[in-house]
Amino acid sequence: MGHDIRDGGLAESGRGRIDWAAGEMPVIAQIRERFDKEKPLQGVRVAACLHVTTETANLMETLAAGGAEVALCASNPLSTQDDVAASLVEQSGIDVYAIKGEDTDMFFKHINACLDLKPHITMDDGADMVSVLHKQRVDQIDEIMGGTEETTTGVIRLRAMASDRALRYPIVSVNDANTKHLFDNRFGTGQSTIDAIMRATNRLLAGRAVVVCGYGMCGRGVASRARGMGAHVIVVEVDPTAALEAVMEGFRVMPLLEAARVGDVFVTVTGDKGVIRSEHMERMKDGAILANSGHFDVEIDKAALAALSEGRVRRIREFVDEHTLADGRRLNLLGEGRLVNLAAAEGHPAAVMDMSFANQALCVEWLVKNHGGLEAKVYPVPTDIDEEVARLKLRGMGVDIDTLTTEQETYLRSWEEGT
Ligand code: ADE
Repeated sequence: MGHDIRDGGLAESGRGRIDWAAGEMPVIAQIRERFDKEKPLQGVRVAACLHVTTETANLMETLAAGGAEVALCASNPLSTQDDVAASLVEQSGIDVYAIKGEDTDMFFKHINACLDLKPHITMDDGADMVSVLHKQRVDQIDEIMGGTEETTTGVIRLRAMASDRALRYPIVSVNDANTKHLFDNRFGTGQSTIDAIMRATNRLLAGRAVVVCGYGMCGRGVASRARGMGAHVIVVEVDPTAALEAVMEGFRVMPLLEAARVGDVFVTVTGDKGVIRSEHMERMKDGAILANSGHFDVEIDKAALAALSEGRVRRIREFVDEHTLADGRRLNLLGEGRLVNLAAAEGHPAAVMDMSFANQALCVEWLVKNHGGLEAKVYPVPTDIDEEVARLKLRGMGVDIDTLTTEQETYLRSWEEGT
């Protein structure tokens, strides 16, 4: 067994917080109970590259309950919760390689340490582990049954690999399950991003102009929660249909060059690079706050900000770097431009991660059973798994729903009845 963590002495604090999250994860609890009895993952080695949080800990323990041997590393250098890593190592016997604030070199060393487990299954959030395997450790690929991918950015990378015929084993796109992106991306990113901005800055949002760049599921969540806090929300989009939806949701929509002049807080959630550039920064108001909630730290052009501030930078409070421009205006970058909800807060609440990670656990089981018949491509989450997660979540929340009558079912299958 190996590990590389900040301090094993933090385990007790981690355990309390992992148990606290478990109380909000009824679906994972039900799966864990079944896994514990049936051991569907006996003898299976899983290498996971995920944000090391209390919710992830519950997923890792569920896989281990199913009989899997598990190793975990971070999917972002700033998102690790060191007490959680300590508890997993000291109390759950799981190998963890992750330290909050690790540099890029260490980040990749940790991915490689995880891959030394010789996994049958990979579990990624952003596709960095798959990328390392395909670029540097191809000799291991024959042993791999399949993988899962958690996030939009990772799925985009994997689809690019598949269309280049570079992908060498099947991956299930957990992100595309309805019970994942309709909840985690929207309600999770919405709440945790606002939470992070508030924790990092303690600024009032009411009456402020919040500019949300990107109106995908994550952008929708951020825009709606910012509005709920009393902010004037401006949406910036490139897709005409998404922009139209934002307009009809009652948001102001305009190009970023225009929004740059009026925004108090800017949030990027596009999944693309170079969204906020120097031409935008040059127009921003004194005191503007810049935050990114997309997977990689490429959405805000940090090099451009550094060039504009020419070394006039200070960490004015935790997670806030104040950049002073030549004319004295100050632009505040949160969490070094890394995904702010995990860098400056605790990521999505457990109640939504419950569904995302239930999909992960069930898809690992599905891959173990079905990998023999799969090709090296990106697969959707099987519909029966997606629907099962919704059913289990409703049950866990104590919510009952109606069922169709026989006549209604027949009607939906027929075409004769009409006007
Ligand atoms: N991604 C976003 N929030 C998360 C969380 N709480 N745990 C793991 N991954 C996440």
